[in-house]
Amino acid sequence: MKIPFSPPYIDYDVEKEVMDTLKSGWITTGPKVKLLEKEISREVGASDTICLNSASSGLLLALNWLGVQKGDEVIVPSYTYCATALPVLHLGATLVMVDSDDDFNIDIDDLRSKITTNTKVIIPVDVAGWPCNYEDIFSLINSDSIAEKFKPDNVVQQKFNRIVILADSAHAFGATYRDKKIGNVADLTVFSFHAVKNITTAEGGCICLNLPESFDDQKVYEHFKLLSLNGQTKDALTKTTSGNWRYDIVLQGFKANMPDICAAIGLAQIRKYRLHLEKRQEIFDRYNEAFKGLGNIKLPKSRDEIRTSSCHLYMIRFPDFDETIRNKMIEELNALGISVNVHFVPLPMLTLFREMGFYMEDFSTSYRNYSTEISLPIYPHLSDVQVEYVIAGFSEVCMKFFIKNQCI
Ligand SMILES: Cc1ncc(COP(=O)(O)O)c(C=O)c1O
Repeated sequence: MKIPFSPPYIDYDVEKEVMDTLKSGWITTGPKVKLLEKEISREVGASDTICLNSASSGLLLALNWLGVQKGDEVIVPSYTYCATALPVLHLGATLVMVDSDDDFNIDIDDLRSKITTNTKVIIPVDVAGWPCNYEDIFSLINSDSIAEKFKPDNVVQQKFNRIVILADSAHAFGATYRDKKIGNVADLTVFSFHAVKNITTAEGGCICLNLPESFDDQKVYEHFKLLSLNGQTKDALTKTTSGNWRYDIVLQGFKANMPDICAAIGLAQIRKYRLHLEKRQEIFDRYNEAFKGLGNIKLPKSRDEIRTSSCHLYMIRFPDFDETIRNKMIEELNALGISVNVHFVPLPMLTLFREMGFYMEDFSTSYRNYSTEISLPIYPHLSDVQVEYVIAGFSEVCMKFFIKNQCI
């Protein structure tokens, strides 16, 4: 049996919605994007949502709106995908990295030690869909000793008058923190709708707004729309209406808009999302139940007293093993037809960041998390038979390696 890692969920409703768009005569940004933005805001409780062509663009546009520039520092975790960090570099700001905690998310003590008078934004990442501890993060930035360090440089930063929390929740659509949906917890939240994510638009992403009252959400929404369309005052659909051909370019924007053809896929998916989330949670729990007695394995959590996961990834760890043994396990799982993955290669292990002076030795928990981790397939259309096959194959490989390495 061959089990792919994370194939997209494409059913008749997705096909119908896409065909409807194709036949409508309008395939780029238009009514379907608007509809999807509304659905997302409703689902996560955000005041507004701006759909874009990726989460990477969402992070870049959000930092641009915040006026992040040379001389500013933006803090990111070392345990993430490069897309969390690259927008900081694109804007010429200084990247500051923080180690991860045992739950893969940002380490609060290390975070505290890295905040300076130049810190403008923190980008926590909800790895695997497991929400960061936002209460701890907000308590930290609002504490007297940290709050007094903040030096706003522009009107947007003045309105916050504190470090801004821009959540990279690429994985966390549907996750909750203290009974609030992710998207409605941090100041701004970015989701990804890349092909492997819980909801996909092939490529895509969005920014959800949850701003202090001093902001006019509608104005901020319009600003992001401009930013995503080269700073152009009229989108393509508006320009097609009679007498509306003239436009202006009013700011140095980016080309990051989501087309309707992509929004159509997302619309069909979001309507079924609650069911899909339940299915993910069910598979997550089945894996945990099956693997708990196998040996020294660190099982991931799908919930605790304050949060629930979107169960985007099932990330399991082997505390007694090292990178070499972990890699051999992956080879054996692949040989059984079970596609697995590693999340993530920490940023300091990647050439770009290493050459910038970030060294893996300085991020020991991230390295330990990475070197002992394997991600198993988890998606709503994974059949019972496939789940059983993964459980049997994974258990067999685990037992073999535990015996070989004298762990039992
Ligand atoms: C943590 C994290 N942030 C950001 C991204 C970027 O998402 P996108 O491909 O939509 O730009 C990813 C993509 O996998 C990710 O894993």
